[in-house]
Amino acid sequence: MLGSNPIGIFDSGSGGLTVLYELLKVLPRESFVYFADSANCPYGPKPQSEVIELSDCITRFLLEQGCKLVVVACNTATAAAIEHLRSNFKIPFIGMEPAIKPASLNSKTKSIGVLATAGTFKGKLYIETSKKYASDVNVCYQVGEGLVELVEAGKADSPEAAELLHRYVDPMVDCNIDHLVLGCTHYPFLMNSLSRILPRGVEIVNPAPAVARQTLRVLSENNLLNDGSSLSKVSFYSSASVEILKFLAEKLGVISNHGPAVNFTGGVKLCCR
Ligand code: DGL
Repeated sequence: MLGSNPIGIFDSGSGGLTVLYELLKVLPRESFVYFADSANCPYGPKPQSEVIELSDCITRFLLEQGCKLVVVACNTATAAAIEHLRSNFKIPFIGMEPAIKPASLNSKTKSIGVLATAGTFKGKLYIETSKKYASDVNVCYQVGEGLVELVEAGKADSPEAAELLHRYVDPMVDCNIDHLVLGCTHYPFLMNSLSRILPRGVEIVNPAPAVARQTLRVLSENNLLNDGSSLSKVSFYSSASVEILKFLAEKLGVISNHGPAVNFTGGVKLCCR
């Protein structure tokens, strides 16, 4: 595998853009192939076996594009499928970390909130990390039902999103949390609403910057960093329409005149569908 090959990144939809945004900051010379499984979004309520099957097919697609490493930019897919992917494919995989460790270690009130999908809370990774690092803190966890759908509908800043967030986060505030862990890559899109709702002093923890740094470390350890001889580009693919992906990528600043060259392809058929 060559350093000039692209990095693969996937999510159930547009959430992984929040991870791509951080990856582009630390790896500006790399090219990326982003796959949004918008036809099968959301993953959160799906059984583990289905998320494994979808993640497996997406990985095959990314390997066909020559990807040298894959970032699973979806907490739900990481929880369900990272072990399967690591044992069935030869390239390195980077998964999402639930970020309970930094939140617990830095909590002064000894109370933290975690907002994630049902699939993520059921995962071994979440259960083991909480046991290991959060045994002496009070963890208020909440399934963010409906939030992914609102982000995918372009309604992250809508009154509906604010209402749902109030319902999910107010009880955590009552429990005196001082950190809120975003356990789903779609949730950083809700940052504006969240910072209006949360009292000052509650820190929002987004694991994406740490995942980007880990990707840099793994590429470097495997001698897979791009030597800079080819121009970087980002190719976006979706199993449905690319409209929302384009809209959110622009909103986040992933696409700009100064950024890498981009192209979008919709309607990609996965091998298992
Ligand atoms: N971005 C995915 C995650 O991080 C969203 C899951 C979903 O599609 O429900 O979990």
